[in-house]
Amino acid sequence: MFDAGVDVITGGNHTFRRREIFDTLEENPRLLRPSNMPKTAFGKGYGIYDYGRFSVGVINLLGTTYMESMDCPFREADRIVDIMQTEGVKIIIVDFHAEATSEKRALGFYLDGKVSALFGTHTHVQTADEQILPHGTGYITDVGMTGPLQSVLGVKPEIVISKFMDRMPVRFALSDGECELCGVLFTIDEKTGLCHGVKRITY
Ligand SMILES: [Fe+2]
Repeated sequence: MFDAGVDVITGGNHTFRRREIFDTLEENPRLLRPSNMPKTAFGKGYGIYDYGRFSVGVINLLGTTYMESMDCPFREADRIVDIMQTEGVKIIIVDFHAEATSEKRALGFYLDGKVSALFGTHTHVQTADEQILPHGTGYITDVGMTGPLQSVLGVKPEIVISKFMDRMPVRFALSDGECELCGVLFTIDEKTGLCHGVKRITY
């Protein structure tokens, strides 16, 4: 993915599922895991990246509603935004990997004007609520999924149906067929760090 031109990869609740990633998390500052995890976790939850004319700060956070309990994402966001502002970083992007729409929208409003953009991930379903919040933060509750269209969150539907109906453990397998790519494009003023354009993307 880095070879394809990706600048930073953020994580979520599955980041630590395979041990093979642990060393890479320690070695590559462009691969992030959620920041509000125990301090013993491998890797880092935020990064500041120098692009010459400006720097970009990226923060990765996990939600706590209908998910495993973690440190408060609101207070953790405050802590990191303070660090970034002290270092003179104007452009700050937040990936909030969370289940509940309410928690995502609440963090968006909480950070409004303090970060350039906040987008949600985890549900795999793109929301139609992209907007610029009153104090200039770009926002969308979920950017959606990149993966197979005929699937349940990427997994073959029959496997997930049997998981729900039989309540037995199953082995997930990727669904086949046509894929979609979802995302969001934020246009950010590098001087103010505020967002003046937000566009939802689905291919
Ligand atoms: Fe997730």
